[in-house]
Amino acid sequence: MKKGLTAIFIILVIVLGYLAVHALTAPVKLSAAQLGNQLIHSNKRGVDCFACHTINGKGGSVGPNLSKEGDLKHSIKWLEVQIATPSKHFKPGSTMKINGKSYMAIMPDHKMLSKKELFELASYLESLK
Ligand code: HEC
Repeated sequence: MKKGLTAIFIILVIVLGYLAVHALTAPVKLSAAQLGNQLIHSNKRGVDCFACHTINGKGGSVGPNLSKEGDLKHSIKWLEVQIATPSKHFKPGSTMKINGKSYMAIMPDHKMLSKKELFELASYLESLK
């Protein structure tokens, strides 16, 4: 009987030890918006958004400020299309108003980005409120 208890105790220690180590070393799962945040701030080729857009005080002003892009209530799909092929929304060279300011449609395509990357960037922009 005593041997049985000792065995159970040892097994319990092993299981709890395993769970503790697993909890400490398991990678933290980031949301799509968090991954998009990392991506837009990375130096990855083709991710050139800050050349023209400002987000939270940093970036250019050729394109609209995206700090509150989520407030415009565009769908994720719309944002993905805008990033990959903006000419589907705005005729190149035409002018449009976004948040009361006029812009000329000169945003380049970003066809080199993967579907996953487009989804992450769109999710990030949608989260900006
Ligand atoms: C060369 C400048 C330039 C670059 C680089 C650029 N944009 Fe743009 N962006 C613009 C301009 C100008 C517009 C206005 C509409 C257009 O040109 O299609 C715009 C519009 C947008 C809009 C639509 C805003 C709205 O709600 O109407 C989004 C979203 C956007 N850009 C995201 C991005 C992201 C994300 C990147 C990087 C992957 C990026 N842009 C790179 C210039 C740029």
